[in-house]
Amino acid sequence: MKVTVVGAGNVGATCANVIAQKEIVNEVVLVDIKEGTAQGKALDIWQTSGINNYDTRLTGVTNDYTKTAGSEVVVITSGLPRKPGMSRDDLISTNAEIVKSVTENVIKYSPETILIIVSNPLDVMTYCAYLNAHIPSSRVIGMAGILDTARFRAFLAEAIDCSPKDIQAMLLGGHGDTMVPLPRYTTVSGIPVTELIDDERLNAIVDRAKKGGGELVALMGTSAWYAPGAAAAQMVESIIRDQKRIFPVCSWLTGQYGLKDIYLGVPVVLGKNGIEKIIELKLNEEEMKLVNESAKAVKEVMDVLDNLK
Ligand code: LAC
Repeated sequence: MKVTVVGAGNVGATCANVIAQKEIVNEVVLVDIKEGTAQGKALDIWQTSGINNYDTRLTGVTNDYTKTAGSEVVVITSGLPRKPGMSRDDLISTNAEIVKSVTENVIKYSPETILIIVSNPLDVMTYCAYLNAHIPSSRVIGMAGILDTARFRAFLAEAIDCSPKDIQAMLLGGHGDTMVPLPRYTTVSGIPVTELIDDERLNAIVDRAKKGGGELVALMGTSAWYAPGAAAAQMVESIIRDQKRIFPVCSWLTGQYGLKDIYLGVPVVLGKNGIEKIIELKLNEEEMKLVNESAKAVKEVMDVLDNLK
């Protein structure tokens, strides 16, 4: 089993590192355009194998897609990250060119692969990969919901003073400030979260989760990588091991939630065929209103992409 990670920056290297440490596959190929970067990071990660006790092999290559041939899953992290003051949408024209070219190269050597897109603006870059991959949408998936719910769960764990392991959460919408964390679908060991925290604190946490990426950009001057890399690796694991886990991911909608021709975050079953099922929650009016607002924001940026062509 082989997984390729394109982009050996912080997110890509973290993702490769997590995949190796969890021995999800026996080979990880790391690709980057910058001479030496992928080779160096793959070598550095491989040198942790004796310390962390795994035998997943890592190969780093400079733009040599022949080495990626036959990958079961390819994670695309290529593109520029955000700088302070930028929204994810500001990256569209630069990253669309990059994602298009990477997608074409990847599909040429791994036509049966499942693509996981991590580049920003996430929902629109996933759409960009879908337009250029010419494979079923069940195999072109964006990473965002696992990251965004992980942030939500981390903040809740601190506030409630419990283990994040016990917090289950769901979230819909785009990977931007309009994302829709769903307190009504959030539980702590089966206990509705609203029984453990008051509305005011819960609303503040919902708000912080929505802006969680921006909080990190402001602190570090660039966007995050540990949680985004680990979230992408968790999607890889569910697909490779055919775990059929239910996660919020960015998926092509064909009428679900009353929305179509759009990539948006929704709960899905993730298994060996990629998205095996989209789950439609019974949202109330207020939740649906927020999802529609988020869809509108994503659609506007999708239109920008369509007009670039
Ligand atoms: C974030 C970036 C990766 O949310 O979108 O941290």
